[in-house]
Amino acid sequence: NSATVESAKQAAAKRAVDGHLSSEHRWVGIGSGSTIVYLVDTISKWEKGLTDRMKFVPTGEQSRLLIEAAGLRLGSLSQLPRDELLDVCFDGADEIDRDLNLIKGGGACLLQEKVVATASKKFICVAVESGADPCVLPRKDYRKSSDWLCSNWRQGVPIEVLPSAASRVLAELRRLGSINPSIRQGGTQKAGPVVTDNSMWIIDAPFPALAAETGTSNSNADPNNCLRWTSGALARRLIRIPGIIETGLFTGHDNYGGRGGAERPVAVYL
Ligand code: A5P
Repeated sequence: NSATVESAKQAAAKRAVDGHLSSEHRWVGIGSGSTIVYLVDTISKWEKGLTDRMKFVPTGEQSRLLIEAAGLRLGSLSQLPRDELLDVCFDGADEIDRDLNLIKGGGACLLQEKVVATASKKFICVAVESGADPCVLPRKDYRKSSDWLCSNWRQGVPIEVLPSAASRVLAELRRLGSINPSIRQGGTQKAGPVVTDNSMWIIDAPFPALAAETGTSNSNADPNNCLRWTSGALARRLIRIPGIIETGLFTGHDNYGGRGGAERPVAVYL
């Protein structure tokens, strides 16, 4: 039930903080979503070593407000000394494969999340399973861990797009094998498309299950055989489409010039 899921999120957030935050840290990235609420709460009560020197860098409006409400010091990437990285970044995820590739963006934050994660030495993911039937909506009721991305999450890959390019992007996504991609609507809370923190729209693009890059024979993209997309190949293909600002596929193997910073977490707390 939902009380169990909420207490599991709280417990996972605490384990993540205990395991990966240190009083030596100066720069901490804070992701978005419902699990991050518990993480910020845990940090604000963290007796082991919260210091005045620590600055918390948000990944969007939600986390900025959480940081402020918790009385933590707000920081920004532009304040980071040149060539330095954040010490650690904590964030949630919607789906995780065995190689720790992620789908993110269920809460319409993904661009700033990717920027902050890749600007961090260490990316820690807190993503608690709800364990409910994956076909049941609302979407929060599904399992987050899966063998292949897109197999659990019916909503598909969230993609942040320039509003004026959305129709062209939809057409291109269909050509690449997405099944019924659609512009995310605000539902009961807002008439019309969801608008991101960066004034963009979100397209949800379901794809047939995406193999991980390693350990499978499915290493090449082949639009005529949708099952051939690996998560990494799809991520690299999508970002080339004009109008796509960023995708919710966090699959990067790049460590950004050996300076650390990666799209995939080093640890996941389920
Ligand atoms: C926000 O857009 C996402 O990337 C979140 O990190 C992700 O949706 C996980 O959110 P929950 O913690 O609410 O499941």
